[in-house]
Amino acid sequence: MRHLIGIEDLSVGEIENLIAVAEDIIANPKKYNKVAEGKKLATLFYEPSTRTRLSFESAMMELGGNVLGFSEAQSSSAAKGESVADTAKVISCFADIMVMRHFKEGAPMVASLNATVPVINAGDGGHNHPTQTLTDLLTIKMEKGRFNNLTVGLCGDLKFGRTVHSLITALSRYTGINFVLISPEELKIPEYLKDEVLDAKGIPYREVTDLEAVIGELDILYMTRVQKERFFNEQDYIRLKDIYILTPNKLRHAKEDLCIMHPLPRVNEISVSIDKDPRACYFKQVLYGKYIRMALIKMLLEEADK
Ligand code: CP
Repeated sequence: MRHLIGIEDLSVGEIENLIAVAEDIIANPKKYNKVAEGKKLATLFYEPSTRTRLSFESAMMELGGNVLGFSEAQSSSAAKGESVADTAKVISCFADIMVMRHFKEGAPMVASLNATVPVINAGDGGHNHPTQTLTDLLTIKMEKGRFNNLTVGLCGDLKFGRTVHSLITALSRYTGINFVLISPEELKIPEYLKDEVLDAKGIPYREVTDLEAVIGELDILYMTRVQKERFFNEQDYIRLKDIYILTPNKLRHAKEDLCIMHPLPRVNEISVSIDKDPRACYFKQVLYGKYIRMALIKMLLEEADK
């Protein structure tokens, strides 16, 4: 049974195939409206979500399938102490594919070891968020036309921001990628990413604190929210939460074709006055997320039926 737990579960060729299918869905949506007819997708969300859960549900509906699920742990039998392993066995009786978001790192992996249908990780703690990465890759393809030879600035909470961890892993498989990691000292990317991905693959990167000093070099600026829910100490969160706020003034020295991305939700990191700037790609990114999730559901259902 094929699952998607981390972005590394997909080869470069498979990702490129998913992107090609998503592009075809954008061009020919009617061609795909019976792909999941008679199939059910379950969304098991133990943590809040707007985009990921609703884009999966919308994606399944546009493929002609049906959806079921829960949007908070308290409305499921997790509140009575049911384990993730047992929940995965139970949901396998009701659905053809399941999507899980959980506050504990590794929970979707546990689900995949116990399910008899494909499991998709929709975000596990501060660890991974592979379908956000597929969304980000489709956005980069649509907006920049390539994955090679890009200077990518990642800004904000690089420690707890799981979307950043998955995106670094994914882009490290392409040539000519240069990362600029912009964060305060306390929110730098985890050492394991440096050791196992960046240093292991010889990917050029540098860690800086000043966004304005580097903004002119960037082809992509990936802003992130400081992840309040993962802080142990509220004082630290309050001290760091507004450390980077992208304003029109800070964009003065940015490239004309800069692509500004954000996985959303936004809190204060990007001034709303940037939303109309042609370089703001973050709401287009949301829509791309639906199309790439349609391509992913299609692929996993077809593989499960083999
Ligand atoms: N980007 C993202 O994961 O958004 P949600 O938390 O709303 O799903």
